[in-house]
Parts: sequence; structure tokens; C-alpha cells
Amino acid sequence: MVAMAKERVARDFQPGEVEPFDLQTPYEPVAEPVRAPRPSQSLAPRTATHLTPLSNQLYEGDALGTLQQWEDKTFHACITDPPYNIARDRKGLSWAFSSHVTIDSEWDRYSPEEYEQFTASWLKEVCRTVKENGNIFIFGSYHNIYTIGAIAARLDLRVINSIIWAKPNAQPNITCRMLTESTEQVLWICNNSNKKAKNWTFNYDDMKALNGGKQMRNFWDIPVTPARERVHGKHPSQKPLRLMERLVLCGTNRGDRVMDCFAGSGSTLLACDRLDRRWVGVERDAEYLGIAHKRLDDERRQRRLPLLPR
Ligand SMILES: C[S@@+](CC[C@H](N)C(=O)[O-])C[C@H]1O[C@@H](n2cnc3c(N)ncnc32)[C@H](O)[C@@H]1O
Repeated sequence: MVAMAKERVARDFQPGEVEPFDLQTPYEPVAEPVRAPRPSQSLAPRTATHLTPLSNQLYEGDALGTLQQWEDKTFHACITDPPYNIARDRKGLSWAFSSHVTIDSEWDRYSPEEYEQFTASWLKEVCRTVKENGNIFIFGSYHNIYTIGAIAARLDLRVINSIIWAKPNAQPNITCRMLTESTEQVLWICNNSNKKAKNWTFNYDDMKALNGGKQMRNFWDIPVTPARERVHGKHPSQKPLRLMERLVLCGTNRGDRVMDCFAGSGSTLLACDRLDRRWVGVERDAEYLGIAHKRLDDERRQRRLPLLPR
């Protein structure tokens, strides 16, 4: 099985690409993050303006600016967790995330109009760089998921499912004025129009096996990120690996190239690495990139940890 995956991955290797995860080799360090190349720099150029991103590489840069430099249809899938635009509301403890870390960063602060424009711009670029009928998974909460859904509808994208991530151990609501918010959503989109969408990847049997032999539902009861996943530093909205592995397993195949343009601490990328998918991450914050790099490298140093189911 491992040999088959290796063969498949090796076939379409590019010059300069970092070897994908290989169970046979003892320790293969993850490449240091690189600055996203400017259009004038040559990095395996396919056209005058569009470059081929390297697999298993972290890029430091702005999501939109970086995506705009990349060639069309280069990824099999995108799994991403964009800013939720909730920072301005944060005064005390954050309810939405997995530990008592508040979101008050500039990266999460937009006016409603700016947020719509920002979201539409990067989503269009994701659609251009992901193959036709490739999967796009986008995280959100009730604050932003309707905006993202409306934009997807405007772009005539097929929404396959809305997955509910239910957190059994969500933080209590300290105001006691409302229900305790304990869910986030993941929009599962097929990169094609409502009419033409077809043959998207869905690993039905893997999902069923994970659910004890019963069809997997779209309500996923998964605890928030455990402390052991934060040993390399804290990111305010770090997603649990168990959730990310389930998404990767659900909508991608071994050897696929999966992109996360808001990589944060690298949870999508780590899940891909563990499950033998190639990954490409973009993040503009150097500190978060550092955490992602340490997590990925540590994973490789320790070799594989037990995979799903957990
Ligand atoms: C919701 S967090 C992603 C967290 C990630 N899923 C994890 O598990 O660590 C969004 C990330 O996007 C980054 N970000 C925000 N705006 C960006 C932009 N325009 N370009 C690239 N990264 C951006 C932030 O620094 C933040 O780390």
C-alpha cells in the first residue's frame, strides 16, 4: 500500500519539490518556509505569469497575492480556515475557539464590505488554482459562514454539504445571556457550477468505517484542540488534528496536492502529511509559520503517530 502511494506520488514530481512523506526513510526534515516568490522570480514557471508551487512547502505571504502567482488547476483540493472577522467583538474570553486565547488580531478585522470583497477575491483564486470538480472545504462560524455561502452561490458553486463541527467541551458562555456557542461549520464545495459538478472525491467507505460501519453524518462531535497539539506554540484558532484528518480522509486521495491559503499553525498540512497527501501552505504571519514548521518537522522526526480512528 505504501509502495503504491510512493509510486503514485513520484510520477508527477517537479524539480525542486521536497520529497513527500515516506514511511521507509528515517527522517526527512520539512523545508524552511520561503517567501512567496514575486512574479519576476522564477520557480518552475509554466507561463510568463504563473508559477508552479512546490509541494510540501510553506509560503510566507498574503493569500490572495500568492495564489494570483500560481498556475491554474494545480491543486486537487483546498482545505482552509480563513479569518472569521470576529476580532472587533472580542473583549474578554473567546467563545469560538479551543482554548482561552482571544482573537484580537488585525488579521481578523474587516468592515462587512471589505470582508465580502476579500472573501470573493481569494475564493475566486482558489477556484482557479484547484482542479475542476476538486473539493474546497471552508471553515466558518455563524459570523461569516453565511457570507461565504452567499458568495459561493453567486459564483454558482455546488455546495455538497455543510458539516457541523460540534465541540462537546466548548468554553462556557461567561455572559450567561445566550446559549453557549459550541459549533463551527465547514462548507464542502465542489469546484464547478451547480449543473456541471460531478465526480468529486468522497471516500465513502473510509467515512463509514470511521463511523463504526454506519454512514457518516454531517454532524461531527470532536473535542477542541487538546493541549498536546499546542506544544510548539499557541495559535488562537488552531483546529484539532482529529477534525482535520477526517476532512482530509473524506475528500482527498493519497498523493493529492492539497492547499491551505490561511495555514495558521499548519493543522491542515499536518493532517495531509500524516495521511500521505502532498500539501502547500500559505500564511502571512511569521510566528504562526514558525509553529507550523515546528509541528510538521516534529511529526516527521517522530515518524508516524497512530492515525484515525481515535
Ligand atoms: C483562522 S486562522 C487558521 C488557523 C489554522 N486552521 C490552524 O489550525 O492553525 C487564519 C489564519 O490566516 C492568516 N491570515 C489572515 N489573513 C491572511 C492573508 N491575507 N493572507 C495569508 N494569511 C492570512 C492568519 O494569520 C491566521 O493564522
